[in-house]
Amino acid sequence: MSGIKICGMGHYAPPKLMTNEDLTKIVDTSDEWITTRTGIKTRHHCVEETHADMCREAARMALKNAGVAPEEIGACIVATLTPDYLAPSAACLVQRDVGLPNDTVCFDLNGACSGFLFAMHTMECLLAASPRKYGLVIGAEMLSRFINWQDRGTCVLFGDAAGAAVVEWSEEYESIHALLGCHGDSDMLGVTGAGHADPPQIFMHGQPVFKFAVTAVPWCIDQVLARNGRTVDDVDFFVFHQANARIIDLAVRKYRIPEEKYYKNIERYGNTSAASIPTVLSELAQQGRVGSGSRVLLVGFGGGLTWGAALVEFK
Ligand code: UT7
Repeated sequence: MSGIKICGMGHYAPPKLMTNEDLTKIVDTSDEWITTRTGIKTRHHCVEETHADMCREAARMALKNAGVAPEEIGACIVATLTPDYLAPSAACLVQRDVGLPNDTVCFDLNGACSGFLFAMHTMECLLAASPRKYGLVIGAEMLSRFINWQDRGTCVLFGDAAGAAVVEWSEEYESIHALLGCHGDSDMLGVTGAGHADPPQIFMHGQPVFKFAVTAVPWCIDQVLARNGRTVDDVDFFVFHQANARIIDLAVRKYRIPEEKYYKNIERYGNTSAASIPTVLSELAQQGRVGSGSRVLLVGFGGGLTWGAALVEFK
């Protein structure tokens, strides 16, 4: 036996809110369309804040809530596809801004909207070999910089935020038994990069991605429960990637998940990609709805196309 548990969570979102009403002044859309098709009412957009600012604030809050000092961190992974720089990594900037030791293993990881799950699994493996047993796992995105304002199908969806978890590795803990995978595809959903002459922009074919998501979510839940030898009743809380309220509602209906065991913040945040799962976890911890001993099932899906799920416990 060996694995990680969450010791503390933190999150940050820039104060500037873009409402559905604001978007109607930019593209041909309506509050009614956005609300009924996605569940989104507002999203946070950075104005003067940087990606590094969001990571720093989320990380400091997570360390404070965990009661862990920066010097105790052995590794820091930032799951992101929108860092301030392609190099240095966002994780190197966290090392500088939070004061992590110079020998902390710091790097970024791109698993798109499933990134936080890829990072949690990677952290579990890394800490097994680390002399310091605490790790910092951050999901952070500044998607507002890559919005295609000519595309009403995507420009209404995305927002900026960061969420952070301090985790501890121990031989006494169960593994999170993460389930991760991808179907390599460059057409359905992504952000363009060096292979394109124009500046980076988000693109998505919404309907096929929606179909992928509603298949991937139950498949991930079934697989991760089987892998852990658990049933739906053993789970204290379900945390879904916040891409569309309808995707969450379908899963909730299928598994008859009671209202007190799941949470949506998509109405206020929109889709924040790798930041969405840790942001939800942090709000839940802040509200006292998850805490010491809670067993939480995390499910993510997105660009890649990637998927991920894990059963994590709070210390
Ligand atoms: O985080 C990564 C994973 N992402 C996801 O899982 C997202 C999955 N996809 C979705 O959530 C949904 O497909 C969307 C919310 C993106 C789109 O909803 P939809 O119900 O699939 O709409 P659609 O793309 O099929 O478009 C339906 C209609 C079209 O008009 P016509 O062709 O029927 O006349 C669109 O042009 O809605 C139109 N439309 C809009 N109308 C008003 C598309 N975007 C908008 C808009 N406002 N913002």
